[in-house]
Amino acid sequence: MSEPDSDQPSIGILGGTGPAGSGLAARLASIGHTVVIGSRSKYKALEARDVLAERWPDIAEQLTCGDNATAARAEIVVIATPWDGAAAVAQESADHLEGKVVISMANALVRVNKEFQPLVPPRGSVAAHVQAAVPGCRLVAAFHHLPATELGHIDQPIDSDVLVCGDDPDAVRVVSAIVSRFPGCRPLDAGELSNAMAIEAFTAVLLQLNVRYKTRVAPRLTGINDPS
Ligand SMILES: NC(=O)c1ccc[n+]([C@@H]2O[C@H](COP(=O)([O-])OP(=O)(O)OC[C@H]3O[C@@H](n4cnc5c(N)ncnc54)[C@H](OP(=O)(O)O)[C@@H]3O)[C@@H](O)[C@H]2O)c1
Repeated sequence: MSEPDSDQPSIGILGGTGPAGSGLAARLASIGHTVVIGSRSKYKALEARDVLAERWPDIAEQLTCGDNATAARAEIVVIATPWDGAAAVAQESADHLEGKVVISMANALVRVNKEFQPLVPPRGSVAAHVQAAVPGCRLVAAFHHLPATELGHIDQPIDSDVLVCGDDPDAVRVVSAIVSRFPGCRPLDAGELSNAMAIEAFTAVLLQLNVRYKTRVAPRLTGINDPS
């Protein structure tokens, strides 16, 4: 675990009170970022922040919280809400997101009994829908396949490749640099934002494998030896 690092950008998480957002908050804090856990309720955000700080006292100093608008003022912003709230929550904070790197980790899925099925949101992916809602942000799709539990176990590496895509190559590089500092993770540049559709939909397959094999899978691709 690293000390707070003033060279690292602050990161706000909209919907940061759920398992994915809070796991990511802990992981980002563990590599030196100051994180703002956002919520529709600042009290719920405080509760989530306190749970993390109690569990991981070493990173407590780097964890802050507030409503989603407060989190959207951070230098980089992650959208960690369910798919059907992602574009709306981004649009509500659009003024704060202009020109910023915004990361969408939301997957459009439905569970029918024991089966996970991908949904096709407007514009083909949640990420594209968010980009359309806030045209001035630099949208990057990432983190879709990292299980929340493993994200939150910050004393352990996560053995996974992380597919990163977006239409702004510099923004993709910024997010890939963050991923590369997660122990065990390897960022892979998966192309333009149009590929978010396939990345998001593939999550249904991974969740189905979890059910079938009673585990939590994460992707690891072969054949790329030097991803630089
Ligand atoms: N769980 C995982 O392992 C995992 C891994 C990778 C990616 N993801 C993706 O990350 C996203 C979050 O996953 P999660 O499991 O943490 O989801 P979640 O618990 O269902 O939702 C996360 C947070 O989003 C806020 N929220 C809920 N409905 C909303 C709405 N309609 N509008 C605005 N905000 C809303 C809530 O926060 P407040 O009530 O505090 O506002 C909630 O705590 C999902 O899109 C998921 O596909 C999940």
